[in-house]
Amino acid sequence: MGEASMSLKAALADVSDEVDRRFDALLEVPDDPRADLYRAMRHAAIGGGKRLRPLLTHATARLFGVDRDCSGRAGLAIECIHVYSLIHDDLPAMDNDDMRRGKPTVHKAFDEATAILAGDCLHALAFEVLSDPATHADPFVRAELVLDLARAAGPSGMAGGQMMDIEAERSNFDLLAVTRLQALKTGALIASAVEAGAILGKVPPEGRTSLRGYARDVGLAFQIADDLLDHEGDEAKMGKRLHKDADAGKETFLSLLGVDRAREQARMLVDQALTHLHSYGAEADLLRDIARFTLERDR
Ligand code: IPE
Ligand code: IPE
Ligand code: MG
Ligand code: MG
Ligand code: MG
Repeated sequence: MGEASMSLKAALADVSDEVDRRFDALLEVPDDPRADLYRAMRHAAIGGGKRLRPLLTHATARLFGVDRDCSGRAGLAIECIHVYSLIHDDLPAMDNDDMRRGKPTVHKAFDEATAILAGDCLHALAFEVLSDPATHADPFVRAELVLDLARAAGPSGMAGGQMMDIEAERSNFDLLAVTRLQALKTGALIASAVEAGAILGKVPPEGRTSLRGYARDVGLAFQIADDLLDHEGDEAKMGKRLHKDADAGKETFLSLLGVDRAREQARMLVDQALTHLHSYGAEADLLRDIARFTLERDR
């Protein structure tokens, strides 16, 4: 692994520790009938996952000299939404999966009702964290963070993409429809992670164009990699059941393009993401490393 990749490795390890610590502090188990709800949230949120979204928030925020505690809190909020989306995605009514991040899924370790509520709570917690003055002193910045994440999580973002994903099993989606589905399902939260860094840095919207281009390309490359790993990844490394897309007869980048063209497309997207960063210097190297990692990862 080259020097840049070593620093990415260190950054990933660092952010993983940080996210675990923040969840641990946030989710203290109460001594009352809600104890299992907290245990379920801790089960899903602590110890696992690549923490790619919080890392993206840090990596973007650092371009603008944002306080690390602020970007850490914003990244945590996005990870809350991500973890909630995974808990619900794994439910019997959706993908009906037994394993996630190398552990039993929440509805398996607890029960369905607890899993639904744990997801609900993480959803709410995200906005509690963002709107807390500790996330940023300026209430306009906090409101913009909340607005952006709410859009990314809702019908025009992740949840809307999940609905399209269900439809994709029933109808024949073409490449354009799959691209839109993935842009919502996976891309929106990844974009929000980058956007949060720029919002915290008080970058005006017109100054965010190249970062948005970067995030869009990284989000799509990330999802193509997820499809490729679903097809040819290692279940133990991934910590989740694979070959689900083909089994479900779902149109994905892979089913539409085939392995070679899908990988080629993802490579092009990573290159394109890098060109969006051309106006930044070494301070954007972590963002560059993350773009490459989306495709090189094995989990
Ligand atoms: C998995 O996301 C689900 C998708 C959106 C493709 P990640 O691959 O980021 O999952 P974790 O957080 O590392 O477990
Ligand atoms: C889940 O997509 C994406 C969200 C939870 C928004 P998938 O169903 O493809 O994710 P995995 O493969 O279960 O991680
Ligand atoms: Mg799914
Ligand atoms: Mg799934
Ligand atoms: Mg998948």
